Amino acid sequence: MNTDKNNIENMPDLSVEIGGVRLQNPVMTASGTFGSGMEYSDFVDLSKLGAVVTKGVSAVPWEGNPTPRVAETPSGMLNAIGLQNPGVEVFCERDLAFLSNYRTKAAADAVGDGPRVIVNVCGHTVEEYLEVVERLSDEPVDLLEINVSCPNVKAGAIQFGQNADSLMDVTQRIKRIAKQPVIMKLTPNVTDIAEMARAAEAGGADAVSLINTLLGMKIDVERRTFVLANRTGGLSGPAIRPVAVRMVYQAAQAVKIPVIGMGGIGSAEDALEFILAGATAVAVGCMTFHEPATAVSVIDGMKDYMIRHGIERISDLTGAVR
Ligand SMILES: Cc1cc2nc3c(=O)[nH]c(=O)nc-3n(C[C@H](O)[C@H](O)[C@H](O)COP(=O)(O)O)c2cc1C
Repeated sequence: MNTDKNNIENMPDLSVEIGGVRLQNPVMTASGTFGSGMEYSDFVDLSKLGAVVTKGVSAVPWEGNPTPRVAETPSGMLNAIGLQNPGVEVFCERDLAFLSNYRTKAAADAVGDGPRVIVNVCGHTVEEYLEVVERLSDEPVDLLEINVSCPNVKAGAIQFGQNADSLMDVTQRIKRIAKQPVIMKLTPNVTDIAEMARAAEAGGADAVSLINTLLGMKIDVERRTFVLANRTGGLSGPAIRPVAVRMVYQAAQAVKIPVIGMGGIGSAEDALEFILAGATAVAVGCMTFHEPATAVSVIDGMKDYMIRHGIERISDLTGAVR
């Protein structure tokens, strides 16, 4: 660590590397909470982000679950969207076209490397995942994030992520055909997160990201019914942060590949907790609903922290608390 604050005042190095891809800083959007950035681009300077992680994309359009499918909870929310999306063809024409133009503009304006594009992939069967991965192989996509952890989809999806052998198998099969580096997104709804992280690594994953939402339920006492039409939903937000930090710590202790941490991040301090616990990068999820530019203020706050503490490289902080 460099303690000469004057040296780094202008230039703390926030860049990190995941699967051989350099990100200008370690802050990304969490899948499903930022669309593909289009809806947010009037309010948030996307060029400042480390990466935009898209909402889950499947081989064919998915309708999602019936409403109501979101509910407020103490310090968080439940969702049971069910991975509604227009399918990979529309996604490539519309969302990827938008994101790649954006990256070109960022480079031309010399505002840094611009955000990396990470596409979140979902499916009911291994074949459906493979179809999307193959379709994306020649598209302007920097990394793939494979969602084997959605609690709101009945068939497939989470089942792969809750069994170490299946997780290793699906990782291997995806890695065999993927042209981009692969991040496996892990579910917290397991007994031993370290075992799942090891299984993804053994299958050849370039990184793991965690946590997806925790399975929850809310009941309307007056109406004596479930609040969500799906009955159960995924819990996210500050309420899950201590669980997420603990799991990121355990996963980072178990594997050598980079860990991307998320769960209730709303400030630089929150993000730094994950980094100190072992995360190489972090994602801001549903706190974006509260304040659209949360991810950008996390980046600014991180820079301030590094200057204040005389830290030259953000990567020096990864796993610094043991
Ligand atoms: C409304 C909503 C939609 C989500 N959609 C996806 C998705 O499509 N794919 C995925 O891997 N995770 C999805 N997630 C999970 C988030 O990416 C993240 O892992 C989780 O919400 C924890 O982070 P947070 O507490 O900061 O929101 C979704 C979360 C929310 C709240």
